[in-house]
Amino acid sequence: MILAFDTSCDDTAVAVLKDNGNYVNLIASQIEVHKALGGVVPELAARKHAEVIAALTKEALHKAEAELSQIDFLSVTVGPGLLPSLLVGVSFAKALAYSHSVPLIAVHHIEGHIFAPFFKRELIFPFLSLVVSGGHTHLFLVKGVGEYEIIGKTLDDAVGEAFDKVARLLGLEYPGGPVIDRLSKTGDPYRFKIPQGLKHDKSYNFSFSGVKTYVKNLVNSMGNLSKSDISDIAASFQKASIDILVEKTFKAATEYGVKIVSISGGVSANSYLREAFAEAGKQKGIEVVLPPREMTTDNALMIAYRASFRPFEEATTEFSLIEAKPSIKV
Ligand code: KG4
Ligand code: ZN
Repeated sequence: MILAFDTSCDDTAVAVLKDNGNYVNLIASQIEVHKALGGVVPELAARKHAEVIAALTKEALHKAEAELSQIDFLSVTVGPGLLPSLLVGVSFAKALAYSHSVPLIAVHHIEGHIFAPFFKRELIFPFLSLVVSGGHTHLFLVKGVGEYEIIGKTLDDAVGEAFDKVARLLGLEYPGGPVIDRLSKTGDPYRFKIPQGLKHDKSYNFSFSGVKTYVKNLVNSMGNLSKSDISDIAASFQKASIDILVEKTFKAATEYGVKIVSISGGVSANSYLREAFAEAGKQKGIEVVLPPREMTTDNALMIAYRASFRPFEEATTEFSLIEAKPSIKV
């Protein structure tokens, strides 16, 4: 049985994963706190993590009908993420591990995202993994556990960051992704020709910083925006940004001869993304694997799941070796 923590950003996440596959996956969201400030404030996020993590752990164990003494391994996200936030999860996990003599497994947050889509199904290598979140837009060729080749990534903003920034320019609330997703359903995705960064570049890299500038100029030139203007901009932006992800991912899948494509991270919750990838997969005969909804945005179940692959090799009782690494290499 594994007890896992993720406090990499603004969600306090605790999960218990049992060896029979049953689990408890809890998230205490701080969105309401950060919404008022238009984005995540690191020190505030850390303070909130510290306030709730102990009670959330107690609740997770209670729901799992488990005692701390039954936990075989603890695991925690060590990075990448916001340093103050990471420190809370790492220090809490180390303190528990130390006081209960339980071995601890350090997990890379992005590895958690990479494997989340496979939680309820067989893991087959190789696969292409597109991780799309507020901090990452990375395309990995995954050959095995620990064997990742980055074949493309954003050269500037992450796609989730673009959703958040465009939402802010449209006067919408934080985080922008879910609002843009919702408004796009009634918007015209063909009204505006939003630029697609690096579209004609042969690499599998992405660029989303141009979108923000384009939308900023568009909003300034249009003056007062009506509700339908906002929905049309949202829909046009969403389609342009997701379409370039689909196009490059499937081009890479063909070049690398890969038969499975997985998408994870917060942006993989997007309804248009889910449809567009499923459709392209059907057309090209490539299987598309998405995480269960509760494992798209940050969660600790993906951390427990990744930790479960080789716990005996990766766990340590040398707790001083485990530390928060905000800029750990991806
Ligand atoms: O993986 P995640 O929860 O945290 C990070 O590790 O960054 O991703 C958060 C990002 C935010 O930028 C948010 O706007 C975006 O995921 N997001 C979405 C949707 N839900 C969350 N983007 C597009 N459509 C959504 N439905
Ligand atoms: Zn994440």
